[in-house]
Amino acid sequence: MRRTFDLRLVDKRRIPESEPERQYYFMDIAKEYVRQLAEQKGAPLTFYVKTFGCQMNARDSEKLRGILEYIGYVGADTEDADFLIYNTCTVRENANNKVYGRLGGLGRLKKKNPYMLLGLCGCMMQEPSVAERIRESYPFVDLVFGTHNLYRFAELIVTTFETEGMTIDIWEAADRIVEDLPQDRSYRFKSCVNIMFGCDNFCSYCIVPYVRGRERSREPEEILREMKEMAEDGVVEIMLLGQNVNSYGKTLEHPMTFAELLRRAEQIEGLQRIRFMTSHPKDLSDELISVMRDSKKICRHLHLPLQSGSSRMLKRMNRRYDKEHYLALAERIRAAMPDIALTTDIIVGFPGETEEDFEETLDVVRKVRFDSAFTFLYSRRTGTPAASMEDQVPPAVMKERFDRLLAEVQACAAERAMALQGQRRPALIEEINEQDGALVTGRLSNNAVVHLPGTAELIGKIVDVELLECKGFYYMGRIAR
Ligand code: 5AD
Ligand code: SF4
Repeated sequence: MRRTFDLRLVDKRRIPESEPERQYYFMDIAKEYVRQLAEQKGAPLTFYVKTFGCQMNARDSEKLRGILEYIGYVGADTEDADFLIYNTCTVRENANNKVYGRLGGLGRLKKKNPYMLLGLCGCMMQEPSVAERIRESYPFVDLVFGTHNLYRFAELIVTTFETEGMTIDIWEAADRIVEDLPQDRSYRFKSCVNIMFGCDNFCSYCIVPYVRGRERSREPEEILREMKEMAEDGVVEIMLLGQNVNSYGKTLEHPMTFAELLRRAEQIEGLQRIRFMTSHPKDLSDELISVMRDSKKICRHLHLPLQSGSSRMLKRMNRRYDKEHYLALAERIRAAMPDIALTTDIIVGFPGETEEDFEETLDVVRKVRFDSAFTFLYSRRTGTPAASMEDQVPPAVMKERFDRLLAEVQACAAERAMALQGQRRPALIEEINEQDGALVTGRLSNNAVVHLPGTAELIGKIVDVELLECKGFYYMGRIAR
């Protein structure tokens, strides 16, 4: 298909060396190729980016979409588009299985559309065995790249257009942070902003440090500039993203704490809400607690992954805090902000976990009373220290503990949510309700969801809502009179 034209537009002498200029040079070339293809097709070329995994990937997908739009592709709602990208996750094994499970079907889809390109990127591609398997078993894939060279997407598209066969480009580490590339925000009134990339914590079960690389913080000026531009563009809520935001700024030439970054972000005019993800309990400072407490914009929500309540397990997990530290921290946070929602991640069945260890986890859940918790079955990730630990927990035991944990977590969450029933709270209205077009859906500062009668004009606004009825995980409400 794409080889029906053979216009090698890249002029090697003129390729800029600096970024992002180099990528804009390639975007202009890609734009010309896309224009020619659309002319042959007799219709605009379409794209679809499917995101697996976390907020970090969702944000990366906005950057991919920004580039695809810049070069002339138009967004589609389904996978039978002319450029389909899977932005993959690999944190647990089932994330990988989901991608493999769908690849066969994509091969058939591609046969039907001579213009179709298929790209795979994201964390899963950083695993050496994955790229190998794709090369061997899925030859119809056109482009494979990783997390470290995502900023080179435009250049990779041009290479894909100009070469036969699969283009694979995966880097072992990141060489820089490139600013000012296009982005296509999913919502006009809220957005995520990366403040750092990678992770240096090496929790013994986790593959993230291997696929996302070493921790790198963005310069505060760049972050604040991006936030300011977004606020000027109508964004009222920003979520600051990092694998471990509490260690933000430590490696900068002029180090800055995360709390200080928040203090400055608070000054941005027009911005009304600030959220952040994820905090590591080992370095959540008292400075951060007091900045949160005194802030009018930072949302009353803290996601503080526990992983396990057993100090013995936490040591084996290389988490660098113990049960007492976590409990004391949760208490300090709740004392400073009684209305804060505490949410968490918990892994069940880490190697060596005994019934007593698991009971310790239940004990922390009962003591902290989380507003919600993501619970995961331990997944063995090749290459991590935990994968080769002895005493892997049998699946049946894991499942049984998982069910007990879930019941406990849900009971706590329901009880916490019930406490707000009948109260009035500001909510940012985000969308028309998916099930009922007469309702809109909003989010409270504490991240809880409320559905209420309303129309599209409310979207993007913060309104006072009466929480009429608590339905366990969400509320039914109405605009406060
Ligand atoms: N198995 C199960 N859960 C995991 N997580 C990370 N690695 C694994 C694994 N190997 C969970 C942790 C983390 C969340 C994003 O995913 O709870 O906080
Ligand atoms: Fe993984 Fe631990 Fe880093 Fe979180 S802090 S990304 S769990 S290694």
